[in-house]
Amino acid sequence: MKHGNDLARFALAAICAALWVPHDARAADVFRGGELYRRHCAQCHGEDGRPVMPIAPDFTRRERLLQPDPVLLQTVRAGKGAMPGYQGLLRDRDLLDVIAFLRTLQ
Ligand code: HEC
Repeated sequence: MKHGNDLARFALAAICAALWVPHDARAADVFRGGELYRRHCAQCHGEDGRPVMPIAPDFTRRERLLQPDPVLLQTVRAGKGAMPGYQGLLRDRDLLDVIAFLRTLQ
């Protein structure tokens, strides 16, 4: 099942993060990113990254994610087209968690 695969992938990502990241560095947290995504983004972008809103990009097709994290961060902070800006609503580290989650969608 797709959902089970996602859970397994998140679990693996979390285990890798726990094992490999030095204590003073903070890895993006894909689990938190997923929770924030479902709360703030899924109403347009869809639970699984396939858009509910027709003009929103499909994250399971990667085109819009072929940009470095800081560029995506800046776009989501500022908003784009019909998408509201998230600056002041979510912190940068929250948005980076969400971006890490977006990169797990396929
Ligand atoms: C009100 C609906 C809506 C919500 C809520 C929303 N988005 Fe979007 N998002 C859009 C639309 C529409 C676009 C396409 C904008 C365009 O290209 O004109 C978009 C585009 C994007 C893009 C592609 C940017 C690019 O460079 O083309 C990213 C990444 C993104 N959204 C992330 C998010 C994240 C993360 C959240 C939650 C924090 C979120 N969106 C919440 C509607 C939404």
